[in-house]
Amino acid sequence: MKLEMALATALALAVVSWTEEFFPKEAHTLNWGKFSGFWYIIAIATDTRGFLPARDKRKLGASVVKVHKTGQLKVVIAFSRPQGCQSMETTLKKDRKKPVFRNTLKGIKGFHVLSTDYTYGLVYLRLGHAGSNYKSLLLFNRQNISSFLSLREFLDTCHILRLTKQATILPKDDSCAHTILP
Ligand SMILES: *[C@@H]1O[C@H](CO)[C@@H](O)[C@H](O)[C@H]1NC(C)=O
Repeated sequence: MKLEMALATALALAVVSWTEEFFPKEAHTLNWGKFSGFWYIIAIATDTRGFLPARDKRKLGASVVKVHKTGQLKVVIAFSRPQGCQSMETTLKKDRKKPVFRNTLKGIKGFHVLSTDYTYGLVYLRLGHAGSNYKSLLLFNRQNISSFLSLREFLDTCHILRLTKQATILPKDDSCAHTILP
């Protein structure tokens, strides 16, 4: 029994460090200037309960990313929620040592770009306050559609993050997304 617990703990730790290993293209090599601008959010997978509205009320999301000052990122996200179309704006600060942007006061523990060619982007958000932890994977695209390959990468990453059951491709209604068109 004790051995099993130790093994489970070791396994959990391995998964955590492996997940961190999994962020190769992060901020170090990412050109944030090129990543800036308007994005549609084509698909989402989240373990935050009650984040998405009912199926027939779902719409494309959107995000505007802007390099604010050195080491600061302004991020606006518009999303169709159960309460209707909502947008929020947050300034994220780069961690001094790690290649990650965050604003823990606003409950954003990490904004990671896992992969991008600047026409699409795979964004992993770690959310929560103190001991609570939620994760969301977002598929960004400059246009209101996405390529088969980026969708495939989104679904593969959902699998790695254990979010497959929560993966949702959003209907192509841009009425909420366009509320934050720059
Ligand atoms: C997608 O965007 C194009 C222009 O970029 C537009 O013509 C088209 O109506 C949009 N489609 C939907 C379903 O919103």
